Amino acid sequence: MMSDQDSFIERVLIPHEDIQQKVRELGEQITRDYQGKDLRVVGILRGAFIFMADLIRNIKLPLSVDFMSISSYGGSVESSGVVRILKDLDKSITGVDVLIVEDIVDTGLTLKHLLEVLSTRNPASLRVCALLDKKERRLVPDLKIDYVGFEIPNLFVVGYGLDFAEKYRNYPFIFVLKPEYYQPEFTR
Ligand code: IMP
Ligand code: MG
Repeated sequence: MMSDQDSFIERVLIPHEDIQQKVRELGEQITRDYQGKDLRVVGILRGAFIFMADLIRNIKLPLSVDFMSISSYGGSVESSGVVRILKDLDKSITGVDVLIVEDIVDTGLTLKHLLEVLSTRNPASLRVCALLDKKERRLVPDLKIDYVGFEIPNLFVVGYGLDFAEKYRNYPFIFVLKPEYYQPEFTR
């Protein structure tokens, strides 16, 4: 999986095989929980797109999908918690069982704002599935994440949809960059 060209990798935190195993388990659990429901899986662009594509193929239900793109003001490493909707959902979620798919919950500020926005639209239910949870960074104490892939330590990670300055989303595993690659001169 790794080659000499991948010299920017400090350490692989979660190998591809572990991700695939976890995604299968999450898919099975969600399949059980949403039997007979009108499930709409909502992916938060862009970080969740790889995870969501794998996850929904492990959910054995006639679900539908929609996407939202939000941006939190601030730099590429720190979130400010002020959420701006760049692309809203295409379809109404009123009366629909909505499952939000996120790449990672860090401070939880983004998710808190998103849940507030979507709950005003009166979905039948509103739950969250996040691949990664950086629990020790949480600033929103009572935030409920219904399905979590992996709890991870306070490290900035990339790969499998997650980026630093829009790069590294295409790598099929979760990894930590070498410190020098988090410098601004490498963001181009
Ligand atoms: P929160 O509002 O602090 O929970 O931030 C959540 C968002 O910050 C995620 O959706 C990511 O876009 C970004 N983020 C937080 N931690 C990481 C990381 O380790 N790698 C890549 N993106 C991250
Ligand atoms: Mg994101």
